[in-house]
Amino acid sequence: MPDPRPVPPASDSTARPTDEPADDAPDSLFRQVGGESAVRAIVDRFYDLMDMDPDYARIRALHPPDLAGSREKLFLFLCGWMGGPQRYVERFGHPMLRARHLPYPIASTERDQWLVCMGRALLDCEVPEPLFERLLQGFYQTADWMRNREG
Ligand code: HEM
Repeated sequence: MPDPRPVPPASDSTARPTDEPADDAPDSLFRQVGGESAVRAIVDRFYDLMDMDPDYARIRALHPPDLAGSREKLFLFLCGWMGGPQRYVERFGHPMLRARHLPYPIASTERDQWLVCMGRALLDCEVPEPLFERLLQGFYQTADWMRNREG
């Protein structure tokens, strides 16, 4: 039986018209994780945990009292980061993630709190192996790159 899924364009992403959803790669992490609603659930769990668990107090203190904006931005960013629609870029331009994190002191402690919090959120949202491992590996690389202080 032929595969009914749309065939994504070859590696040249510029071939994709801008008004077409960018989440059509059948093997994207975005698709595998369950699309937009799953990404939203992971981000919500991540910030709920950060807000309630003293283990993440250091990184919670870096965020504004109202986490609504942080939730929305991380959701928009992660859709694209996982190979889905580039919503963050459409709204805010290039993420410049490291530069945007420079105002916040991030050392290994903050990196690790972020990663443990995200790991728990993925588990709570029942993200299965090997997807869990792939996502956490990617998060590690991004979070480690965000460090801007010794320690
Ligand atoms: C390494 C530990 C990290 C710490 C302590 C941290 C902390 C923060 C803080 C305090 C903000 C500002 C929140 C706000 O203005 O509402 C922020 C924004 C953001 N963070 Fe992180 N973050 C970390 C890692 C990451 C990682 C690994 C990612 C992505 C995978 C990420 C994605 C974002 C995004 C997309 C924003 C919004 C940027 C903007 O448009 O202003 N962060 N982060």
